[in-house]
Amino acid sequence: MDLGLKNKVAVVTGGTLGIGLATAKVLAREGAKVVVCGRSQEKLDAAIAAAKEEGLLLWGKTADVTDEKSFREFADWVWGEFGRVDILVNNAGRGSPGAALTLEKEVWQNVLDTNLTSVWNCSKTVSPYIAKTGGGVIINISSLSGRIAFTHQGAYPVSKAGVNALTRVMASELAADNIRVVAVAPGFTETEMLKKKYGDTSFLTDTAILHRLAKPEEVGQLIAFLASDLAGYITAEVIEISGGAFQVRDPGFSWNRKNG
Ligand SMILES: NC(=O)c1ccc[n+]([C@@H]2O[C@H](COP(=O)([O-])OP(=O)(O)OC[C@H]3O[C@@H](n4cnc5c(N)ncnc54)[C@H](OP(=O)(O)O)[C@@H]3O)[C@@H](O)[C@H]2O)c1
Repeated sequence: MDLGLKNKVAVVTGGTLGIGLATAKVLAREGAKVVVCGRSQEKLDAAIAAAKEEGLLLWGKTADVTDEKSFREFADWVWGEFGRVDILVNNAGRGSPGAALTLEKEVWQNVLDTNLTSVWNCSKTVSPYIAKTGGGVIINISSLSGRIAFTHQGAYPVSKAGVNALTRVMASELAADNIRVVAVAPGFTETEMLKKKYGDTSFLTDTAILHRLAKPEEVGQLIAFLASDLAGYITAEVIEISGGAFQVRDPGFSWNRKNG
């Protein structure tokens, strides 16, 4: 199926690893010109090299999404190079340690800055560019934790619930500029962030009806669809991609029965 993304310009924050890099590659495969950012030059170089090995061209520059000046310089550079932005994927994020009420204020604040205030910062900076060339799409990467949290996820569920609310606010405020805004809320996805948080992730498969983690590419494919005109009547929604996690009380039922 042709998603009609050829020559669209897409910005993916945190596009140097995990879900962001997988999304960048899916969009590039669809013919989009994809620009990624992250803080580390090393990760950026590795991401561009990994994509090249698959015959895909990615552009990139370092930027910190929590820093207004740093992201402004990045966005201005993208505009200077490409003269348009059609798609913004607000993907950069971090996990959070420990119990919410035991966090140092600095950690609490950094999680909110990285996961929530960054969405405000990057959208505020890029949406005027998207509007200038006729409109487009902003996709915010939320999390299943924005709806249903684990205990001891620190400030993470709060940050993602905020992303869901901000998605609806932005969708309403930007509609007249022909900009759709949606959130994608993945369940457990095979990335470095998840490995760092949980180490052995096998127990998480029991929470999903499909009895496995998501592959980052599967999240990227949903994002590509939402970025396309095929999703032209979808805005202000939080769309979960979780293999049916926490939708029934006994998600392992049919697997356990099958395996005796
Ligand atoms: N993995 C999961 O199970 C899961 C589930 C639900 C939602 N999510 C969400 O999906 C998104 C991506 O997660 P992931 O698992 O793919 O994470 P990841 O593998 O840890 O990758 C995070 C990416 O974000 C970048 N980043 C972090 N802080 C940044 C900052 N301040 N400025 C710019 N870039 C920054 C990192 O690059 P640098 O370190 O170089 O900056 C990296 O490219 C996050 O929003 C996460 O909350 C993940």
